[in-house]
Amino acid sequence: MAILVVGGAGYIGSHTVLYLQDQEEEVVVLDSLETGHLEATLGATFYEGSIEDERILDTIFTKHTIDSVIHFAAYSLVGESVGNPLKYYENNVLGTYKLVKKMQEYGVSRIVFSSTAATYGEPVSIPIKESDPTIPTNPYGETKLAIERMLKWCDQAYGLKSVCLRYFNAAGADPKGQIGEDHTPESHLIPIVLQVSLNQREHVQIFGEDYDTKDGSCVRDYIHVLDLAQAHYLAVQSLREKDESAIYNLGNGAGFTVKEVIDTCRDVTGHNIPAQVAPRRAGDPATLIASSELAKKELGWRPAYPSLKEIISHAWSWHQAHPNGFKS
Ligand code: UFG
Repeated sequence: MAILVVGGAGYIGSHTVLYLQDQEEEVVVLDSLETGHLEATLGATFYEGSIEDERILDTIFTKHTIDSVIHFAAYSLVGESVGNPLKYYENNVLGTYKLVKKMQEYGVSRIVFSSTAATYGEPVSIPIKESDPTIPTNPYGETKLAIERMLKWCDQAYGLKSVCLRYFNAAGADPKGQIGEDHTPESHLIPIVLQVSLNQREHVQIFGEDYDTKDGSCVRDYIHVLDLAQAHYLAVQSLREKDESAIYNLGNGAGFTVKEVIDTCRDVTGHNIPAQVAPRRAGDPATLIASSELAKKELGWRPAYPSLKEIISHAWSWHQAHPNGFKS
């Protein structure tokens, strides 16, 4: 019995593959390598291709006994999705539709889906609970929510069981330093700040300091990528044991401002990290903090690396050893 990880060469996908291998699960990876890195899959059984490619899915489902699918294969740039929504509907929604059709054809009835806090849009209260309204403010969040809803109806109609995991801000890297975060272009706060520490950028921009937060910069909930990976493993186990669909938030339950993140990076790296205040970035909510109580209660999820300093230290070790990502 194997777990098929689609998008398993990306940042969160590859850390999940690593975690599953540590649990002695048999893993098969499918990734288009459009944004992923083959090196990140560390020798797992690998197929290069898209979830929209029926032939490659036929090959995988025929050659391997797949009992569950973990689905990371989506585009995830908020700004890009606003400029080109159809790209997101095609890859994210249509791609998932094709994947699920193939799962049905081969009798695979469990899927763990990589969803996002962007399904909520502007929060109505903090911390955000799974039962809060979902009103996305960009096509990226909208396509993830459309997939969640498709999966819900597929459960009702065909008994396809799904766990949708709504991540907050994934950060950090494998503590052993084998893999880490490598995006081109990089848009996420922590790797950008660490690029300043490596003298690859002159300064970091703080997108807005006039928010209604303690220091005026945005508050986010940073969660270690291996803690996300752990949650995916527990979600597969829960589907195997309980056979029930669910939706869970995954965050630390603590928020840090952009300025606090930069300060912690200064502390970890010993670099002075020049910062400049820039205008607000369109579509940024002031504060996003998750309530992850449900995942803790129902999945038994126990984050192993809740400290922001530790999350940044692991990212820093990776970036120092791989200043040019996997090409280093
Ligand atoms: N930020 C800066 N300067 C930068 C980069 C980011 O000030 O150079 C700020 C952002 O404005 C934001 C915070 O740092 O306030 C975090 O930004 P990221 O881009 O790292 O992450 P986001 O919170 O925007 O996005 C994350 C995921 C998305 C997901 C979203 C859900 O990366 O995929 O959470 O809310 F959609």
